[in-house]
Amino acid sequence: MYYRNLEALGYGEEEIQAIAAEHEVTDGPDEEGEMFERPARPSDRFVAPFPNPQAARAANNGALPPDLSLITKARAGGPDYLFALLTGYQEEPPEGVEFVEGMYYNEYFPGRQIAMPPPLFDDAVEYADGTPATVEQMARDVVTFLSWAAEPEMEERKRLGIKVILFLVVLTGLFYAVKRKVWSDVH
Ligand code: HEM
Repeated sequence: MYYRNLEALGYGEEEIQAIAAEHEVTDGPDEEGEMFERPARPSDRFVAPFPNPQAARAANNGALPPDLSLITKARAGGPDYLFALLTGYQEEPPEGVEFVEGMYYNEYFPGRQIAMPPPLFDDAVEYADGTPATVEQMARDVVTFLSWAAEPEMEERKRLGIKVILFLVVLTGLFYAVKRKVWSDVH
């Protein structure tokens, strides 16, 4: 995804510039042949949090965080699974559960021990319209965003699908009427 794609969600040009500028990208080479860092622009792709998988593992206790751009399509249950995962952390594992150091208990992760620390906590963000920032609310928003990111054209595709079906229904009726007319004098 490019930052400019956020336009489809209703963000204005300046807002998108501001969101992009929060991240640094490597550009160049400049006139001396050196690469340099600059704030991202709307025409840049979303900046990944880690430069490579090794750096990602090193920062996460050896576990590799997956690319989230297609995650709602890459897991059984899709958005429902993702919502359950984000809201499914428990501070204390149930009695009798053996626990590996540095892992977190999550009811919905296969195996129930996940290397991802709970990414959401109450009031982690402030909503411009004053909506209370509960974990459920933020999880719903993150999942909605990721569903859109995985398939930005879905709504358009489904709208077109309905039109195509309606067209075919009308066409079938028309063909049936024509068939009756053409064969009407054959007994
Ligand atoms: C709201 C933001 C986030 C979302 C939606 C998210 C989502 C996910 C998902 C869907 C998985 C894969 C679970 C599976 O394999 O079924 C995952 C794994 C992982 N995430 Fe996150 N994540 C977020 C933030 C973070 C953050 C901030 C960190 C690091 C501090 C992180 C670290 C990891 C790691 C290390 C794994 C691999 C877990 C394992 O294999 O045990 N995530 N995340």
